[in-house]
Amino acid sequence: MSKNIIKSVHARRVWDSRGRPTVEADVTLRYGALGRAIAPAGASTGSGEAVERRDGDPAFGGQDVKGAVLAVNDEIAPALKGMDVRDQASIDSRLIELDGTENKSRLGGNALIAVSMAVMHAAAAAEKLPLWQYLGPFQGGSNADTLPLPEIQIFGGGAHAARRVDVQDFMVMAVGANSYAQSLEWTAEVYRHAGKIMADSGRLQGVADEGGFWPAFQTNEEALETLVRAIEAAGLTPGQDVAISLDIAASEFGHGGRYTLAQDGHEMDSDALSGMLVDWVERYPIISIEDPLGEDDAEGLTKFTWAVGKRVQVVGDDFLVTNAQRVEDAAKRKACNAVLIKPNQAGTMTESLAALEAARACGYGAIVSARSGETEDATIVHLGVGWGIKQLKVGSFSRSERMVKWNEGLRIAEAIGATGEALPIDGNLPPRDAFPWGH
Ligand code: PGA
Ligand code: ZN
Repeated sequence: MSKNIIKSVHARRVWDSRGRPTVEADVTLRYGALGRAIAPAGASTGSGEAVERRDGDPAFGGQDVKGAVLAVNDEIAPALKGMDVRDQASIDSRLIELDGTENKSRLGGNALIAVSMAVMHAAAAAEKLPLWQYLGPFQGGSNADTLPLPEIQIFGGGAHAARRVDVQDFMVMAVGANSYAQSLEWTAEVYRHAGKIMADSGRLQGVADEGGFWPAFQTNEEALETLVRAIEAAGLTPGQDVAISLDIAASEFGHGGRYTLAQDGHEMDSDALSGMLVDWVERYPIISIEDPLGEDDAEGLTKFTWAVGKRVQVVGDDFLVTNAQRVEDAAKRKACNAVLIKPNQAGTMTESLAALEAARACGYGAIVSARSGETEDATIVHLGVGWGIKQLKVGSFSRSERMVKWNEGLRIAEAIGATGEALPIDGNLPPRDAFPWGH
């Protein structure tokens, strides 16, 4: 039907949450339906990700995206004109073929993902459906009757906070909440109390890139202790109501199996870092650990997963880069048991969905995730619901590029509730009685 046919594709430069240029794409269909999306940007990127196209001029620290915008307007737009937006797979294949490189560096992963996401939005707009609802029947989704469990940052470190502490994300997951809305209420209280503890001890220094409090700690472990105190101060039980989740982002401080924890003053090998994290798992209510070891340390990841994988979700981000083949390879070697799904790591929506499907086929969990450089684009929340992904990671509980996502989830929850469907929160995590702190 011609209401689904692409009339025009147009990109422009807009600005992200770090004040850096990024690509926004508009896909307009014959009868006027519009899909719009903005490419996010990582800071602690995996080396296997789709490569962003940045101009490298002196302007904006080399971060401008004039080339990527032109790539959309001059090359992608004429190639997609006349295609049917319901056929996301063919459109994404066309984008990949047009780019012609392994890592999408010619046209730019940022150009491709903005267009690919905008195509999906246009397809939903043509059906007059919100994206989450369109994805269910049309694009590999489920019945869209659950909201993902939020994974919310309280302290932000690593590359997002000038490496003030080594660990990148100290997060919470309200595993005991019985609705999406309640998980946000509990997190709001934990976040507020964490801020108060920091202020009372003279350590409040604003927030890091994703809105978590700036980590003014002497050691990584001090951040963990403070997090437990914040959960308790909020009147909640650590581990039962609210568990801790970490993104170590170890590729940022280690290569070739050698790691340098600047904050703790240690240099360590893979076994020692693993041992330190296993020790944390024993002593703190930790439910999930992302990138515990470097992206090039598959052997270490296998050992770590063997050690704690029954009790803790072990997530591959830089290691798996939203790539179906990598997920399958990791599953064969039993490295990690869950994958982070970041569409701009893959470069197209079809490849992101393929990574998710590979995860499901291998029995891996999945978390749909934003980047540290974000905008008002809330697509990933719709993916979480529409594709039936059970966990959602979008940074902290402040700054509007984060809150726009949490709030979009509330609207979707209300819409689902209004149709009379149940609203269970289902994190696909190990059963809580498998955790020692529950007893
Ligand atoms: P990034 O961080 O967007 O800077 O890569 C997020 C993450 O590591 O999960
Ligand atoms: Zn990560």
